[in-house]
Amino acid sequence: MNLDIQKKLILLVEDDAILKKLIAGQLQEIGYRVLTANCWRETGEVLSRSEPDLILLDMRLPDGNSMDGIEELAGNHAVIVLTAYASIQNAVQAVRSGAVGYLSKPVNLEELEIEVARAIENAAMRRDYEFVRDQQRAKRQSLMVGESPALRDLERLIEAVAQATTTVLVEGESGVGKELAAREIHDRSPRAQHNYVVLDCCTLHENLFESELFGHEKGAFTGAISQKRGLIEAADGGTLFLDEIGEISPAAQAKLLRVIETRQFRRVGGVKDLTADTRIIAATNRDLAVMAKEGRFRQDLYYRLSAFTVRVPPLRDRRDDIVLLAHHFLEKHDFSRRIRKELSRAAERTLVAYDWPGNVRELRNVMERAIILSGAETAIHSRHLGLPSAAGASSGELKFQFDHEPTLDELRQNYVKILHGKYSGHRAKLAGALGVSERNLYRLLQRYGLE
Ligand SMILES: Nc1ncnc2c1ncn2[C@@H]1O[C@H](COP(=O)(O)OP(=O)(O)OP(=O)(O)O)[C@@H](O)[C@H]1O
Ligand SMILES: [Mg+2]
Repeated sequence: MNLDIQKKLILLVEDDAILKKLIAGQLQEIGYRVLTANCWRETGEVLSRSEPDLILLDMRLPDGNSMDGIEELAGNHAVIVLTAYASIQNAVQAVRSGAVGYLSKPVNLEELEIEVARAIENAAMRRDYEFVRDQQRAKRQSLMVGESPALRDLERLIEAVAQATTTVLVEGESGVGKELAAREIHDRSPRAQHNYVVLDCCTLHENLFESELFGHEKGAFTGAISQKRGLIEAADGGTLFLDEIGEISPAAQAKLLRVIETRQFRRVGGVKDLTADTRIIAATNRDLAVMAKEGRFRQDLYYRLSAFTVRVPPLRDRRDDIVLLAHHFLEKHDFSRRIRKELSRAAERTLVAYDWPGNVRELRNVMERAIILSGAETAIHSRHLGLPSAAGASSGELKFQFDHEPTLDELRQNYVKILHGKYSGHRAKLAGALGVSERNLYRLLQRYGLE
């Protein structure tokens, strides 16, 4: 602490020469560096040149009342006001305007030392906190990787709904990023500083749902040895994410409907109606509309949940994101930090051509496996992906695209190119598939600019 003091800079704004000398002297003796100003004008000058860690500000200055300027000053600096004993009312008002504390005159030097140290320490902590918070915000920006128009639309929708408290239903196929989308809604909402609580409905035993969600009172059932708060309370002020909502029982659906409609709930075994200010986001990979129509999901609950629906598009409908995501998973992976991995062009084509029934999760798994399979090689080739190649799984599925009737040589060039991609660099295999010697293959590759 004392070592730190050496570097701390305090600006003392005081027009009373004797008091100024006394306070400045005391602070310097403790080890602070001190700048002084006599009035508002000088304060502005000093602040244009230096960045004090703390400002000690006399409430009454020759060129104006400090109350007017204090709010602006306190917005960027830690400010302690110095006030005549009689004007304690002013001090209170100054603190309301953002001052971190006040000292009454005549200033008690011991008190001065304590207050100054405390204010400087708090200001540092606040800066740290703001830094970490901003850093996390910046990190959050990159939660959802992708630049396709479909993903942009999704992000716009998320941004818009994040600001409201509406219940949101996130729909989409398995592995598309529903959970990520829900998290993004919370992170971008005014509730971001509060809890984000996840309840995975499909792993929950039916009669646990209620006690998990609403909590229980002591003795509510065998094993309820003490009172327990539910997740809905844990998420008070924040967001509760109900994953796989399509899986909950009819009884649970009824309970959930009640809490969404009335914001009220009871702990299991409890008699008090409790309220929680909890935003609910639900996700499902089932078609809830159909389930509701067929009577497998409560219609009224479905309407409540689907007040605002966010649909995460399948990966095959936003192929622009595939390569970006693949690189993202390469960079994220521990292995790739030791060995810098890259994707061959052919591997990229293979990834883009594939239909991704398992969506982003499947892509992540494929990349992780490819990293392992490619071992010490820096490049990941199509063969490491274990996917049907861009050329099609079997030669029977080859596709050629021409905007004119191709010549024989054009066809040949195209065919060589496709197989070259499929066997990504495996000379012998490629030659075998084309039915030419490796020597002839070499000529072909040169001729078509593939070497
Ligand atoms: N746009 C994206 N950017 C980066 N990672 C993503 C993106 N979308 C999904 N992922 C990742 O893919 C994986 C699957 O995503 P998530 O769990 O959100 O999918 P889901 O739709 O909830 O799947 P399920 O239906 O199986 O519950 C996670 O590891 C997630 O981090
Ligand atoms: Mg999920």
